[in-house]
Amino acid sequence: MEDMLPFQPSRPRRNRRNAAIRGLARETRLHPEQLIYPLFCVDGAGIEDPIGTLPGMARLSEDKLLAEIERSWNLGIRNFCLFPAVEEHLKDKTASHSWADDNFYLRIARNVKERFPECSLMSDVAMDPYSSDGHDGVVTEEGRIDNEATLPILARMSVAQAQAGFDWIGPSDMMDGRIGVIREALDENGYHETGILAYTAKYASAFYGPFRDALDSAPKSGDKKTYQMDPANVAEALRELEFDEMEGADIVMVKPALAYLDVIRAVKEHTALPVAAYNVSGEYALVKAGAAAGFLDAEAGMLEVLGAIRRAGADIILTYFAPDYAAWYKAQHG
Ligand code: PBG
Repeated sequence: MEDMLPFQPSRPRRNRRNAAIRGLARETRLHPEQLIYPLFCVDGAGIEDPIGTLPGMARLSEDKLLAEIERSWNLGIRNFCLFPAVEEHLKDKTASHSWADDNFYLRIARNVKERFPECSLMSDVAMDPYSSDGHDGVVTEEGRIDNEATLPILARMSVAQAQAGFDWIGPSDMMDGRIGVIREALDENGYHETGILAYTAKYASAFYGPFRDALDSAPKSGDKKTYQMDPANVAEALRELEFDEMEGADIVMVKPALAYLDVIRAVKEHTALPVAAYNVSGEYALVKAGAAAGFLDAEAGMLEVLGAIRRAGADIILTYFAPDYAAWYKAQHG
């Protein structure tokens, strides 16, 4: 019979026959307990202020934030990261509101840990939400970002956050030497048990756009290229990794995720620490906007994106999809 295939004992399709078999052959899995859900908070009460460029996300006052954490908790999300949207009049050149006694962000963290003592809570350490310049470091008169002047500010911010009860201090600023300075300040103040989740390889990316809208934190002048990494580089990420490990990081992170899957892989292959990846605002917004425009299926897009980040080597993913993913996971697995 001339229409028969040549003899082929190996047939990859046999392992794709049905959903159960595909389940057996699946190489990559992602559990909701590997996710960290980033949330935006504001001072006040009863506020749920939608972020236009981040569909489904809003700036939340404490009451609404607690409700969102409870909803996500019931879906299986256990880890959360908070970002503060700070009123303009509280911003200054040294981000001094970040450690103020009446800082709403610290108050909210305290109350989240009181309501959900079993959750883990990650902070953001960087000057930009509190900076009148919109930069992650101190801006000098000549417009330079002053590394050494920034470090003690980050240390002070971190200690205030540890005191508020955050489990993870999350330095996202990319100043040189900050992990060591923060670790030392935490230890000197007795916070030996507070961890550092370091933004180890954080790139100067266009994909942070919606986040900067959410916090109104875009730089007032210039860009972040003198401290965030050049998207062209990967060896440099390993250099950052070496420093962060030496300085005492507990988890190392690559950010963004989708355009940096090779960096996630390289970092994973060079460290014994857990590796996190930040599926950032612009990456999330692309999928949501694409789905709204009818270009793709939102759920399938989410699964593919998170699966790819996991497959690249991320043990932990920060993602705005966290509750959506957990809801999907629950529907699949109960
Ligand atoms: C700033 C910070 C940024 C993000 C987290 N922390 C933006 C920036 O560096 O300008 C981006 C997160 C996202 O886009 O989801 N310290």
